[in-house]
Amino acid sequence: MTNAIGRYEGAWDELVGLLRLGFAAPWSDEQLATEEKMWDPARSIVVREDKELAGHTASFAMTMTVPGAQLPVAGVSLVCVSPTHTRRGILRDLMRAQLTELYEGGVEPVAVLTASEPVIYGRFGYGLGSDHQTITVPKESRALRPVAGIENVRIRYADPLEARPVTTRIHNEEALGRPGMFHHDERWEHYVGSENVVTDTSGASPLRCVLASVDGEVTGYAYYRTRRTTKGFVDVSRVHARDLASHAALWQFLLNQDLLSETTYEQLPSDDPLLALLVDPRAPKPVTADGLWVRLADVGKALAGRTYAEEVDVVLGVTDEFLPWNAGRWHLTGGPGGATCEQTDRPADVLVDVRELGAVYLGRPSLELLGAAGLVEERTAGALAATSRAFLGKRLPWLDTGF
Ligand SMILES: CC(C)(COP(=O)(O)OP(=O)(O)OC[C@H]1O[C@@H](n2cnc3c(N)ncnc32)[C@H](O)[C@@H]1OP(=O)(O)O)[C@@H](O)C(=O)NCCC(=O)NCCS
Repeated sequence: MTNAIGRYEGAWDELVGLLRLGFAAPWSDEQLATEEKMWDPARSIVVREDKELAGHTASFAMTMTVPGAQLPVAGVSLVCVSPTHTRRGILRDLMRAQLTELYEGGVEPVAVLTASEPVIYGRFGYGLGSDHQTITVPKESRALRPVAGIENVRIRYADPLEARPVTTRIHNEEALGRPGMFHHDERWEHYVGSENVVTDTSGASPLRCVLASVDGEVTGYAYYRTRRTTKGFVDVSRVHARDLASHAALWQFLLNQDLLSETTYEQLPSDDPLLALLVDPRAPKPVTADGLWVRLADVGKALAGRTYAEEVDVVLGVTDEFLPWNAGRWHLTGGPGGATCEQTDRPADVLVDVRELGAVYLGRPSLELLGAAGLVEERTAGALAATSRAFLGKRLPWLDTGF
């Protein structure tokens, strides 16, 4: 038996067979049609054993906000190894081939993904770059502190498909200022929109869309489903607003529905104003979940591709066991206006593994926090604190859509 790694030459249906087995899930026809529209065979890599499809990885071309810029990145997805072929190193081979292609392509210096299991990707140099909160708010704890202007916000229903252009516009405005969010082009608009209209099989209602508006101008939106089992639930899938009053009005609506006693949301930003506005701060019982995993495929281009909160001039001694071209000393200079990052012979001020660079790339957590955990080493007094301040972003990174 011989294993061969290479470009995917097969048809979508063959890949569907692998996905259904690997993810141990039924995958509805609607879901699969949505994935197929995003899928680009030219970005797919497979391992075959003889002719049998043994493993697959793909990536989507995406534009992601990083501190001070929007960057082309590879959104890694549809990663799967056949249950008959797991734990033989096939994923490792796929990851290496994919990251090598990105490096050699020279266009997307960063790869990002969401992990089915959080322990898998660190070994390949992915760092945890964003988190979010899963919340459940009982209706009796729905009271919010006063918000100026909330009484001027009107909430009304809209058709989810017809509302797509306006909700996408609001999404993209917010994405500009929030690291970890993606710009939604027409293709993404369809992907996210389709995900929204996919029939839910858990007995939930069709997707509902509400728009917030002030003086006739749309200022925010929310997507949610309702579900009645032993209790009644409002399952929120997205909330975006241009201003605090609209944001609070949307939440006020979502938290207070007749016959429904709990409101859930799996992807609340960790800095969402809702957490400060709830009169009962214990009510939402937030549980932190991992969001976006970030991998610098090309350390030089990636670090030069974002801006820095303060002037920085530091030599980073980078280790990278998986991608040897990243290992070595890198001179990073820059500030709020831009940066350069070149290889150098100068001694390192800070020693850091590429995984930790991925973790801090979007602006949080701080490099100092990782240093306190023994994951970053200071070689020049004061260099860690200064570099850490420079890497901080203005807003917490947040992933609002799956892929
Ligand atoms: C996750 C998956 C892709 C791993 O593929 P694989 O070919 O078995 O992985 P490899 O043999 O290359 O393993 C590489 C390393 O990751 C570890 N690893 C792989 N999957 C793991 C898992 N689910 N949990 C813990 N460790 C895992 C292996 O033990 C190995 O560790 P080592 O570096 O210490 O030797 C495969 O199990 C799969 O397809 N699972 C179902 C679908 C899925 O979850 N896809 C990922 C979507 S994000």
